[in-house]
Amino acid sequence: MPDGEHRGDDLTAGARFAPSVPARQEPFPLKGCGALDWGMQSRLARIFRPESGRTVMLAIDHGYFQGPTTGLERVDLSIVPLLPYADALMTTRGMVRSTVPAAARIPIVLRASGGPSVLRELSDERLAVSMEDAARINAAAVAVQVFIGGEHETQSVRNMTRLVDAGQRYGIPVLAVTAVGKELTRDARYLRLATRICAELGAHFVKTYYCAADFDTVTAACPVPLVMAGGTKLPELEALTMAYRAVEEGAAGVDMGRNIFQSRDPVAMIRAVGAVVHESAKPDDAYDQYLREPHPAG
Ligand code: R5P
Repeated sequence: MPDGEHRGDDLTAGARFAPSVPARQEPFPLKGCGALDWGMQSRLARIFRPESGRTVMLAIDHGYFQGPTTGLERVDLSIVPLLPYADALMTTRGMVRSTVPAAARIPIVLRASGGPSVLRELSDERLAVSMEDAARINAAAVAVQVFIGGEHETQSVRNMTRLVDAGQRYGIPVLAVTAVGKELTRDARYLRLATRICAELGAHFVKTYYCAADFDTVTAACPVPLVMAGGTKLPELEALTMAYRAVEEGAAGVDMGRNIFQSRDPVAMIRAVGAVVHESAKPDDAYDQYLREPHPAG
């Protein structure tokens, strides 16, 4: 029997119960995610900064279907120095285990679908990672491509719903990535359709492209957070303007790859994107900030 009980001390008789103070309960601040299990919320809170409710995800998963993409030839040299400025890293388990330092403490959004290379029909994907392995990697979320209107639409939706079922069991959120084939128009009508289907079928957050007209209707119709995809490399001011408009019109941040790592100065660019996303810096101001950073020689 513990000594305290012999002495008659009551170890629970402190004076700090504050019975008149209602228990504090903070609602989870992310759109549509308040009813998720604690583990899911905790992982999402690693990706989305609680103070802004937004994220700057750095996407470097391109190699899973197109090999060593320009700027990603040596992830150890080009990407690892960017990690302190990213809120999360979207990448593959191969790159995580071979190259991403565990001590970087960067939340991983793990690419979990794949199959076809850029030489084949891209929509013919399968799940490529088990949820058990995602948990072993300590993934903050898993990502799956969804090809609405694509040749293998149903298969890709099935990949997502299976991943959501597994994610629910492990408390790992699923990011649905709306992939737009060459033949489809990236307008608000299409993006509303694709993002809403992903959310209705259980995706915890969705990645989608920006469209110049009515993007606010895309974010409004999607009941979970949307992150804006970057797409092909644009001049820096244009990319910052697109990110600014996307968050002003309801996106919960960005998931950008080439517009960061193919920039002349990737560190300056990801810092400028961060200013837009987290501080609502105007595009011109963020671009000035980008220009003021000392550019690397060559
Ligand atoms: C897109 O479907 C994949 O997730 C890409 O590999 C990547 O995320 C695209 O990033 P970005 O278009 O910004 O280079």
